[in-house]
Amino acid sequence: MPDPLSWCAGELDRLERQGLRRHPASLSSPQGPEVVIEGKRVLQLCSNDYLGLAADPRLREAAAGASLRWGAGAGASRLVSGTTDLHRSLERALARHKGREDAVLFSSGYLANVGTIAALVGKEDAVFSDELNHASIIDGCRLSGARVVVYRHADPADLQRCLAAVGARRRLVVTDTVFSMEGDRAPLGEIAEVCGRLGAMLMVDDAHATGLLAPAGPGAGIVMSTLSKALGSSGGFVAGSGDLVEWLRNRARTYVFDTAPGPAAVAAAAEGLRIVAAEPERARRVLAAARDLADSLGSLGYTVRAPAAAIVPVLVGEGSEAMALSARLLEAGVFVPAIRPPSVPHGTARLRVTVTAAHTEEHLARAVDAFASARPTTRPASVRPRPARSRSGIDPRIRRSGGVFVTGTGTGVGKTVVAAALARTLSAAGLVTAALKPIQTGAVEGADDLGFIRVAGGLPAARCLAPYTLEQPLAPSVAARMEGWQIDPDRILAAFRSLRRGSDAVVVEGSGGLLVPVDESMDMAGLAAALSLPVLVVAHPGLGTLNETALTVEAATRRGLDVIGVVLSRFPAVPGLAEATNPGEIERMTGVALVGVVPEVRGLDVDRSEVPPAFDAAPWLAPGLGGRFDRAGFLRAVSRTGELV
Ligand SMILES: Cc1ncc(COP(=O)(O)O)c(C=O)c1O
Repeated sequence: MPDPLSWCAGELDRLERQGLRRHPASLSSPQGPEVVIEGKRVLQLCSNDYLGLAADPRLREAAAGASLRWGAGAGASRLVSGTTDLHRSLERALARHKGREDAVLFSSGYLANVGTIAALVGKEDAVFSDELNHASIIDGCRLSGARVVVYRHADPADLQRCLAAVGARRRLVVTDTVFSMEGDRAPLGEIAEVCGRLGAMLMVDDAHATGLLAPAGPGAGIVMSTLSKALGSSGGFVAGSGDLVEWLRNRARTYVFDTAPGPAAVAAAAEGLRIVAAEPERARRVLAAARDLADSLGSLGYTVRAPAAAIVPVLVGEGSEAMALSARLLEAGVFVPAIRPPSVPHGTARLRVTVTAAHTEEHLARAVDAFASARPTTRPASVRPRPARSRSGIDPRIRRSGGVFVTGTGTGVGKTVVAAALARTLSAAGLVTAALKPIQTGAVEGADDLGFIRVAGGLPAARCLAPYTLEQPLAPSVAARMEGWQIDPDRILAAFRSLRRGSDAVVVEGSGGLLVPVDESMDMAGLAAALSLPVLVVAHPGLGTLNETALTVEAATRRGLDVIGVVLSRFPAVPGLAEATNPGEIERMTGVALVGVVPEVRGLDVDRSEVPPAFDAAPWLAPGLGGRFDRAGFLRAVSRTGELV
């Protein structure tokens, strides 16, 4: 019998070949500003031990004393083998520190997030999560079974749009306070205001803020954090009202079914918390050092994000470049590993530099010197290879949101051809592109839009998904009702997220026009909002299009959607008076740019997935969409035609 676990070796080989296999560095020293890796003492710039307490003698003594007094392990879940004064007194101190009524300990921050989210929301509920939240929040959202709506990073307006579009029994908004890979801070005041106004619960993850920044205001009813970072120990906790904490003690499975954190960890965290209050200069020093280091690295030419706390992300781009920079730094005596996808989005690999209170001026000067010597050597401009197409020329809204929602002024306007053309131009511009047709209708007549997008867009089948295929050529909600289906927007969101994980841009083709219903509670505009995507409006060029396009753009804007532009489809080779004057008029009426014109193409057949042999969509779409469409030239040319007609 072959070993049923033999697949592990194969998968590990694959990870190794893709450069994605992880190997932790082997340390032979405690945590600190300097560590010993394979016999070499190096400067460490990657620990979350922000206040330099993990190896502080006072924490070590507290841990040792608790072990001697209480033993090495907690024995079982506190609900089973009882709780100690040690645990309760840390919980009370944490509650005071966060300005809340009570707090509950977990064995880690990860378990605190997973257990709390799943205890607060379930199948009938919805959870709204910032797109850059920590993995433990993402896992908690998934495990809860609630509908998950991902809103744009640190964007209260987008959160508001999502809350307005999605109703549920209970609604929970979750956000990191300081984002672990970006180092920036959520606008908690505005987020709390939106939640308060729209009646949603708000949970903040203070993992990278505790000990450094003031606790969140009362608008956040649920404050989660960890003992494992600034507090120098390990474990997690949630602080809030007495009722919330009591609910978690009864219903958070990662509390109920998990052995309590051990006495040593609890006592060390209590000492860490005492030092946070007694020595506020530690936090001040870290915050100032992080800002100084960011300035210094910025002036060396690195792309550095401004730090809100102790995390200074140095953006590199490709994973291999980040790995190479990290290797050069290690050579220069500085330990800071590369962070690559899937931990961060594709094309944004980085070094996540962190500063701690244990770093001296001398350490930081050494860090800057090492970064100066590790800078990539730039070749003279004449020999620098030009990228095939500049990914940076792509509309930043597409890069940021990870896709585009292609909608239309109505059905049959040519969305599928535009979606395929877009998939093709984005791929050609160097973006890993995927396609999603959330709901295919009219299958009885052989409609297969995704098939055409795949063929004409040149996408691999693995990056094309159509979660629902309905027989009747009707609005999705109507066709679904007739066929006994219930469309679950969660399934569409899950398909989108799975495509997005492996790609830079997902081209989503809606069904019909913008206000066509997906189900009883959501229309295409709501779906685009739930996916946090900007929209591209496809319109026909002839008589009637002015009113239809203006209505569509107005509805999209009113629903808070970002309209990238209008694409005219099936533009005739010989335009009549309407076609010649409509492009300019559409721009004037809607204030939205014409970002593409697709001509009638011989040999192109959506129904049969046929594409002419030398198919090139680049002349049809604007540079922001990966093409070469010359908007000004086109408008000049058609207006001349208009004068001639
Ligand atoms: C934002 C955030 N939340 C939660 C956690 C999990 O905390 P812990 O390491 O205590 O499990 C981490 C880091 O690990 C984090 O960065």
